[in-house]
Amino acid sequence: MRLDVVTIFPEYLEPLNVSLVGKARARGQLDVRVHDLRSWTHDRHNTVDDTPYGGGPGMVMKTEPWGDALDSVLADGYETGSGEPALIVPTPSGRPFTQELAVRLSERPWLIFTPARYEGIDRRVVDEYATRMPVYEVSIGDYVLAGGEAAVLVVTEAVARLLPGVLGNAESHRDDSFAPGAMAGLLEGPVYTKPPRWRDREIPDVLLSGHHGKIARWRRDEALRRTTAHRPDLIERCAPGAFDKKDREM
Ligand code: ADE
Repeated sequence: MRLDVVTIFPEYLEPLNVSLVGKARARGQLDVRVHDLRSWTHDRHNTVDDTPYGGGPGMVMKTEPWGDALDSVLADGYETGSGEPALIVPTPSGRPFTQELAVRLSERPWLIFTPARYEGIDRRVVDEYATRMPVYEVSIGDYVLAGGEAAVLVVTEAVARLLPGVLGNAESHRDDSFAPGAMAGLLEGPVYTKPPRWRDREIPDVLLSGHHGKIARWRRDEALRRTTAHRPDLIERCAPGAFDKKDREM
């Protein structure tokens, strides 16, 4: 998979050299290219923003640098056979970024991110590229960040771990919170490892029982408990058939 990021803070994307994403890059599973938007400005001050039409506070990112940057990235990708691109526009007014969307994006060959600063990018830029490729305007949560770069890191990490061969154990996203499977739609419950006793705290006996059925039941009960406490909206959203008799006894 190829990822391009156009930003005025290339150094903000340094974490893409670390950990899971960094390793995927080193192994050639991910081709990440970070570009400085200011290299597509033509004035002495490398201007990327201007005052908003209609007035109001803050500044708006200008059309020309974004247009030139995206044309240049697209020309390179088409030349090198990167496949069909999709544009990812991080914005607090986007659709919520979910695990479902992460799965869909992980199936695409090439993602181009346009993290904005200030009050966002002149709308004509998104409208222009939406005529040429799928555009996903995404929000990573109901809060406003100072810029979209942190959202790029979030989306990249969520997508990269779904790529074939990136996670060590192919089963490890099967039971993820939000993933389809036995815990579909529920949050994951607590986990434990050695030692069995720490500061007088023991692990739940059932986990030492070796009884797979009882362990699975315990895990599901814990998932239900946690989901009810932290995200009752997820329980509401489950189909009635998603719950068995023992679930309802909880
Ligand atoms: N840019 C600023 N806030 C954001 C958010 N919540 N999600 C995505 N991009 C953003």
